[in-house]
Amino acid sequence: MISPNTIQQILSRIDIIEIVGSFVKLKKRGANYLGLCPFHNEKTPSFTVSPAKEIYKCFGCGRSGNSISFLMEHEKYSYVESLRWLAAKYNVEIEETATSPEFKQQLLVADSLFIINGFAQQFFSDALFSTEEGQSHALSYLKERGFREDIIKKFQLGYNPEGRDSFTRAALDAQYNLEYLQKSGLVTTRDGNSYDNYRGRIIFPIHNQSGKILGFGARIIRNNDKAPKYINTPENEIYVKSKILYGAYFARLAIDKSDECLLVEGYTDVLSLHQAGIENVVASGGTSLTPDQLRLIKKYTNNLTIIYDGDPAGVKAALRGLDLALEESLNVKLVLIPDNEDPDSYVHKVGAAAFTEFVEFAKKDFILFQLEIALRETGNDSSKKAAVVNQVAETISKINKAEDFTRQQDYIKQCAALLKIGEDGLHALVNKFIREKITKEETRSFRDEQRNTEQESGLPGTKQDTEVLALLNRDEMFEQAMIRSLLEFGMLDWEGEKKVADYIFREIDENQLEELIDNPELVKVLHTYKGWYDAGLEPSAKNFLYHDDLQMSALVVGIMDFNYELSHKWPEHFEGHIATREELYREEVFSTLNYLKLRKLKRMMDENQGDLEKATVAEDQLVLVQTHQHLKKMEIELTRQLGTVIFR
Ligand code: CTP
Ligand code: MN
Repeated sequence: MISPNTIQQILSRIDIIEIVGSFVKLKKRGANYLGLCPFHNEKTPSFTVSPAKEIYKCFGCGRSGNSISFLMEHEKYSYVESLRWLAAKYNVEIEETATSPEFKQQLLVADSLFIINGFAQQFFSDALFSTEEGQSHALSYLKERGFREDIIKKFQLGYNPEGRDSFTRAALDAQYNLEYLQKSGLVTTRDGNSYDNYRGRIIFPIHNQSGKILGFGARIIRNNDKAPKYINTPENEIYVKSKILYGAYFARLAIDKSDECLLVEGYTDVLSLHQAGIENVVASGGTSLTPDQLRLIKKYTNNLTIIYDGDPAGVKAALRGLDLALEESLNVKLVLIPDNEDPDSYVHKVGAAAFTEFVEFAKKDFILFQLEIALRETGNDSSKKAAVVNQVAETISKINKAEDFTRQQDYIKQCAALLKIGEDGLHALVNKFIREKITKEETRSFRDEQRNTEQESGLPGTKQDTEVLALLNRDEMFEQAMIRSLLEFGMLDWEGEKKVADYIFREIDENQLEELIDNPELVKVLHTYKGWYDAGLEPSAKNFLYHDDLQMSALVVGIMDFNYELSHKWPEHFEGHIATREELYREEVFSTLNYLKLRKLKRMMDENQGDLEKATVAEDQLVLVQTHQHLKKMEIELTRQLGTVIFR
């Protein structure tokens, strides 16, 4: 666990404009900032960020939250990962409090591996550039292949010398732990002897998003049938192959700028394209794309162009796993490099300009391409063709987000033409697949819902069916208004030494909050507030905003919403009083609180009325009537204070 002290430090430094601004272009508009929503497709900006309230909200899709929830949604981080990201950004040193020993151990290993990899990279670079062997064996090879020195340096390439254990000895001499060296894949131990795993190989460091080294690819210098061309870091605490996109660290800005990500297979493809000035390129490492990799790409852009070798294996690799890309509503295009070349060799052969031109010209739509290939294989076999039709329909059915509707219609038209079948028929088939998927999802969510209702039915059902009560119960707005005035004005002066919070907690009994406020989540906010306040802490909205109880945090974000007005109903009741809320904070605190009291009174009166109707003993009836009169008096008094007659 990250210590509360660290969290406090992180939170005190958060600048939501800076954080959201690293992912979304923001323009200042009055007190707020405005940009295109990163969570849905839009042409006119409706994504609003308030630096004062430290929250964002999109008026198009309704998403809202704080800096941390932004990182969680946009970068797919967990709460803790978001804190770590912020800590790194603001140079806050993380202090850990008691965590599970396993987790601590894992962090320790991860840190050690990063440190070892950093050390190794330095060692290998030195070996490449500053040793005789490196220069004559490795550097000369890279130059022969046409790699410029600036690119070799930018990607931090290196060389692991031929000697059995030159790296191993250097690492052990520098006091690195043998066990971690083995975990990193750099060192192997056999029969009690440890030696370099990548000896005689060119080293390609693999960087994470922030430029730290996760692992290495090690290429043999002269191809040789006995040894594999590449050896890669084994899976460990930091190297998780399915989450790695080689080159992402260097490509990020260019992808942003061009709004397109080129995907190639290999390390050398990335290097050569960079060298040719094409920098929006990442490599999958020769396997089919994984969902994690797709998600990573999707963070940067919706346009993915896959550039693979034109051989059958390349085509197959390109096609695999792409249904996933469609579901993520990525636009996938495909480029096949001709003549047994790969992007690396092809760009060297034809030059940067011709390569770019070729890519633009050869770019094929992924779905249509897939269909062409399938049709080529089926020939005239009508049963095989039926299978192709089904497959295409299923693929198209995956493009099913509202904003993709036109694209889907386009595909139906084009594929029907290629298949020589009626558009309507294909349409019906696509819809069938969509329906099937929806049915599956509905069954699932129905089950979830049932589970929830079962849990909820444990709550006491005090709701009564009078018209006014129904209106009041629905109107959580007023409960929120009270909490909002506490959150915003709680620390302001009320009377003499007393703060607004003192007044509120004097007026309401902490043990009877449930009678005043229906929403248990809001009750929780009040309890938490009181707890902090009693402990001498300042219970500001900000502390709620970043509370690790995410439900509570989301609730508070909702309450502190932007275009807040006390209620669209209030102005009628307070005619002539519409000054700013800050000027009127006493009045607001007073009225929001009294409103809830009044509601409680109403409920008591109704209950009393019900009892009165049932009561048969005269004495009981008398008590009930007196109670009624008493409550009525209180109601009149409250209503008078509120300065308006709210009901009737
Ligand atoms: N690869 C691997 N292990 C292998 C072969 C390939 O991990 N034994 C991965 C590497 O990431 C490699 C990519 O698959 O970059 C593509 O393989 P290949 O086309 O064979 O290599 P190139 O990248 O073209 O390397 P080079 O140009 O040096 O031959
Ligand atoms: Mn190659």
